[in-house]
Amino acid sequence: MSLNLLTEATLMFLTWSQQIVGLSLTNKAVGGSEKCLAGVRKAFAAVEALMSGNASQVAMDFGCCTIPKNLDDQIELMQNLADIVMGTVQYNEEGVLMSINELCGVMTNKSKAYEEEMEAYNRLVKLAKIYHSTSEEPCLDISHEKTVKDMMDTSLPSGRRAERQWTYQTCTEFGFYQTCEDATCPFSGMMTLQAQTQFCPMLFGISQHSLPGRIAFTNTYYGENVKPHTPRVLYVNGGVDPWKELSVVQDRTEDGEKAQTIFIRDTAHCADMMSRKVTDRCSLKKAREEIEKHVVSWLKMAAAGED
Ligand SMILES: *[C@@H]1O[C@H](CO)[C@@H](O)[C@H](O)[C@H]1NC(C)=O
Ligand SMILES: *[C@@H]1O[C@H](CO)[C@@H](O)[C@H](O)[C@H]1NC(C)=O
Repeated sequence: MSLNLLTEATLMFLTWSQQIVGLSLTNKAVGGSEKCLAGVRKAFAAVEALMSGNASQVAMDFGCCTIPKNLDDQIELMQNLADIVMGTVQYNEEGVLMSINELCGVMTNKSKAYEEEMEAYNRLVKLAKIYHSTSEEPCLDISHEKTVKDMMDTSLPSGRRAERQWTYQTCTEFGFYQTCEDATCPFSGMMTLQAQTQFCPMLFGISQHSLPGRIAFTNTYYGENVKPHTPRVLYVNGGVDPWKELSVVQDRTEDGEKAQTIFIRDTAHCADMMSRKVTDRCSLKKAREEIEKHVVSWLKMAAAGED
């Protein structure tokens, strides 16, 4: 099918996250800057350009196991590089390898060691090196064929079992694809909705045509992120978390209906679920107290036999 069969509204729903990842890269409170975002954008454009000029050079620079042999492999590589930045933003200061502060440090460092030939492209190469240095794999696998084969594997020890299950949910309920077709996206425009939704028919026999209807059903059933029919649910979001765009946040609920929301300005995906640390930001400490208050009141209600 072609992309334009998906309605515009669905597309908007599906393609939320990359602008937000970009915005988080400029957030000064967590070490971001406009310069950092510009560096990331420049680096991805440079990789794309070199890929069409000399793919073996790109493969060598980023330690790929093979030279990308078709468009699918190229997308695989671009996705992999984008994942470095996306993962860093989503889990900022939550125990992942790098923080936004460190990533932006590499992308904008002015020190002598970086001066010579440290174009945006080389900085991304360096970032990828740091990132993959902790991997047990000897090289970066960018074979799309292998990805599909691994995703087909339904056996328990499959290394991609969680990804397969998540993909199933995206095909049947959520959408939530992380695409980059909008000009504001700092990564590669090769990450298209078409490329990501092709897994639905491939893995599960679910047609791409059917996705908008499935997503619409989910939205209707749960009340979307505007008026969720969900008593005793607290929507906790972090301001750095790209996923907040799809959640229920304060300014979207109408006349303070039932939805209860907590917004933590400077945290990412799930800081509130982690153990307390002395280094926790003030906003996080306050949010935890608020969450506790809600849970306590629900438990009291339950103990009193109230609905
Ligand atoms: C492509 O890159 C490889 C690896 O650096 C190099 O050996 C080769 O000469 C380059 N080819 C072209 C056409 O620039
Ligand atoms: C810049 O690079 C130098 C040399 O590698 C390093 O010591 C310094 O901490 C870096 N600065 C930032 C902001 O990352």
